[in-house]
Amino acid sequence: MTPNEAKPLGTDPDWWRQAVVYQIYPRSFADNNGDGLGDLNGITSRVSYLVELGVDAVWLSPFYPSELADGGYDVANYRDVDPRLGTLEDFDRLVAALHGRGIRIIVDIVPNHTSDQHEWFQAALAAGPGSPERDRYIFRDGAGPDGNQPPADWVSDFGGPAWEQVPDGQWYMHHFATEQPDLNWANDEVRADFIATLRFWSDRGVDGFRIDVAHMLTKDLTQPLPTQAELDALPIDGHHPIFDRDDVHDIYASWRKVLNSYDPPRTAVAEAWVDSSRIPRYAHPDSLGQAFNFDLLEADFDAAQFRDIIRQNLDLAAQSGSSSTWVLSNHDVVRHATRYGLPHSQRDDQGKLVDRPGWQWLRTGGSDPAVDLDRGLRRARAATMLILALPGSTYLYQGEELGLPEVVEIRADERQDPHFFRTGGKDIGRDGCRVPLPWIAAAPGFGFGGATPHLPQPAWFGNYAVDVQDSDESSTLNLYRQILHVRHSLVSGENLDWIETERYDVLAFARSAQWHVVTNFGDEPYRLPGSSAMRVVASSAPVIDGILPGESTAWLVPM
Ligand code: GLC
Repeated sequence: MTPNEAKPLGTDPDWWRQAVVYQIYPRSFADNNGDGLGDLNGITSRVSYLVELGVDAVWLSPFYPSELADGGYDVANYRDVDPRLGTLEDFDRLVAALHGRGIRIIVDIVPNHTSDQHEWFQAALAAGPGSPERDRYIFRDGAGPDGNQPPADWVSDFGGPAWEQVPDGQWYMHHFATEQPDLNWANDEVRADFIATLRFWSDRGVDGFRIDVAHMLTKDLTQPLPTQAELDALPIDGHHPIFDRDDVHDIYASWRKVLNSYDPPRTAVAEAWVDSSRIPRYAHPDSLGQAFNFDLLEADFDAAQFRDIIRQNLDLAAQSGSSSTWVLSNHDVVRHATRYGLPHSQRDDQGKLVDRPGWQWLRTGGSDPAVDLDRGLRRARAATMLILALPGSTYLYQGEELGLPEVVEIRADERQDPHFFRTGGKDIGRDGCRVPLPWIAAAPGFGFGGATPHLPQPAWFGNYAVDVQDSDESSTLNLYRQILHVRHSLVSGENLDWIETERYDVLAFARSAQWHVVTNFGDEPYRLPGSSAMRVVASSAPVIDGILPGESTAWLVPM
């Protein structure tokens, strides 16, 4: 099969176990109608690009009607398309175009909160305290003699208070932005409505779902509300008032029944920022079935950290019977080509991370320390080749196949991320990984579509454009294409056997007798085992005379 040929969709119900899923952030992928925002027709126009890249599925971040207070994760209507991004008919055409070329589609479900523009929230405001409309959300009377103090001093995940007062004096909880009121999952109507949403998209041919903030839906707020300090001190053991409660899996069990009623069963992957030991609950076949493993997002480019994380997550996957997931970048974190060009992150005495890698750097406006871009890209290519060789599925984020670094040169008045606004600009937030993709170096907006993309692209984006990389055999884009196609021919079982390397900074493993993988995390070159039986089939940096350079990965196959 040549790279341009589509593979058939197939009927394997386990297609997801070792799939390569490409995350599309629709507003920044391709803009077909030239209004500066990416759209569904833009994605449809690039299906050949996705086929040539060699991905098995795409995951679309939200494309639903939204006031964009949080990049679309503030959903005003779960069963429609934002008119700026297209129509339901455009969506159907996109599904047909992807399926016709062998690519599956996963959509994002955001069940913890709606937008404040959602008709339910508008109805809750209009109906007043004690009404059934308010019961779909988390409303409370305020504290203090006249109720003008928030019911608790909780802090939102994006900074600032987590309770907002409405004109009649009551307060509502929003774990994220003010425009994202948390739903009350003890309410039966809320439960029924999300089942309707899952059916709506499943009926339209969607293959799976990514569940946003999957660990927060159920809450127990029947007791007097604890303070933020008390909340932080409580164990997260399944009975915490707001995080990772065991009873959230009752919801997912009911979803699983619905998802399994389709042929093939629809998949679901949990975005759950929980302790690794609790991940199997979400990945269990009676719950969502798969969960993101974010450990590598938080790791440095370090052999020991990678080895421990790989071991632990393969064990966790074995516990649930699911397959593991691997991810280095997404729309919420500093792109890995930049992260790996920064010094290693700070850890405490137990090796626990003090701050997410790259976040301290974001708080300096992305200026301190300076990023070593060459090193970052070298390491990013090596790490990507490593994770693409692991058993399980891999989630890639749009633009990483171009080796894109994080963009920091966005003016305050051009920024969109609530992180930026709610921290008073202290934290520049996540806009830098969401800048519209460069397709054509010499075109306006680098061929994204409109003349003025909704987030500004820096001049250097042209160096990373698809057309520039197309014609460069050693480009990151061509490396991704090559390894994704080679991977298809090599993936079989889900085994991994470690191979001793006698170097603490070199990891090696065999997926089978047909596929060996070696990553050199150090600076010193590493001589690949002098076997006449294996040859290098792909590498992130040139291997000459059997020498694997520092910070690179090679895949080996039998001669
Ligand atoms: C998830 C999304 C993130 C969003 C948040 C609130 O973490 O990935 O982008 O801001 O949920 O919906």
